[in-house]
Amino acid sequence: MNDESNPDSEFRGANEFQIRNPKAERNERPALCSDLELRASFEFRHSDFVIVQSPSRRLSKSRFSAVLNRPLARTIRGVTPEASPHPPVGEVVRPTTLIEAQRLGRRLGVALTIASETFQHTGSFKFRAAYHLASQVRQRHIITASSGNFGQALARACELVHKSCLVVMPSTSARIKVDAVREFGGEVELIEVTQTTRTARVRELAALHGDAYIASPYDDPLVIEGNATLGTELADAGQSFDCIIAPVGGGGLTSGLIRGLRASGCPVQVYGAEPELANDAARSLRSGSLLANETEPPTIADGVRTLSLGQHNWAILRDGLEGIIEVSEEQIKESVRLLFTLANLKVEPTGALGVAALLAAPKLFYGHTVCCIASGGNVDPELFRNILVG
Ligand SMILES: Cc1ncc(COP(=O)(O)O)c(C=O)c1O
Repeated sequence: MNDESNPDSEFRGANEFQIRNPKAERNERPALCSDLELRASFEFRHSDFVIVQSPSRRLSKSRFSAVLNRPLARTIRGVTPEASPHPPVGEVVRPTTLIEAQRLGRRLGVALTIASETFQHTGSFKFRAAYHLASQVRQRHIITASSGNFGQALARACELVHKSCLVVMPSTSARIKVDAVREFGGEVELIEVTQTTRTARVRELAALHGDAYIASPYDDPLVIEGNATLGTELADAGQSFDCIIAPVGGGGLTSGLIRGLRASGCPVQVYGAEPELANDAARSLRSGSLLANETEPPTIADGVRTLSLGQHNWAILRDGLEGIIEVSEEQIKESVRLLFTLANLKVEPTGALGVAALLAAPKLFYGHTVCCIASGGNVDPELFRNILVG
């Protein structure tokens, strides 16, 4: 969504672009550096990308691409971390809460640790990405589309860094998520997803607000970097897990997790968990190419009603994930009940997907030491009560 829609357009903001780092897998500086240095200043910031800066704002993207003789992946309208006046994300997030869930683990046949992001600021891991993004981009106004958790995380992050945001939300979003965005000072626009898609509406808004940063809740290197702090924390926790299981929607959580773990040298296997009703990521992994759901899937897990993985996420997940476990709607509800009754945790349906994967594939995980990410706890009381009473 942040790509320049017209590749020949003049730079509107910062004259910074990304190119792919051909040595990304080994986390090395690209061999092309000396070559690039002759023609553009550049910065080696991401393991996946090299940031190149054109000498002039008046040079078009396609001409700069021709000068460099390589495709420019994406415009970065951000600032370098050193230039941000705000504290870095690692200093602002609450560390994840690691809970040894003995009763729940015994019931599921595994040695189970829950990494609970339900106590994170705004009640989900999304604050990691939202704060990192809001504190890094130059723009003072940020527009996003979110079913709720990214929206409220962004609203809180903007409040902290004194910026404003507009959040496009489906009218079916959990009421408490809509209320929370407004409470943190964010503006909400509710849309009927049967009449327009979130992406289409965000595109319209982007055209109206040329100076705003358009933030994808998952498909943005800054989002992935922010979420990577969870992987770094788990790697540094000094526990040795056979695998980590995390929910997959657009793929920002899992791709960040993998990035953070690998950057810390932790080789633990990472599985994704996805509803059967929204199994685009599982189908993509099986087929080897990025596939999408045709319409927003009607799963109870409202955080993963996405149409497909993001491009940046897919690039990391297609090789980085050990597998994706597809779970039924009943298994999602059962895992919400189990987390409440056996681990004293209030987890929203999306956040319970990791535990649902243990119900869906018991043989695969039996006897293993498993960490499930409980990624969020924002659930309407009415829905939560209905799930608990079965
Ligand atoms: C609680 C929760 N868990 C997991 C996810 C999925 O994250 P991603 O879209 O980054 O895969 C979401 C997305 O909104 C969420 O709200």
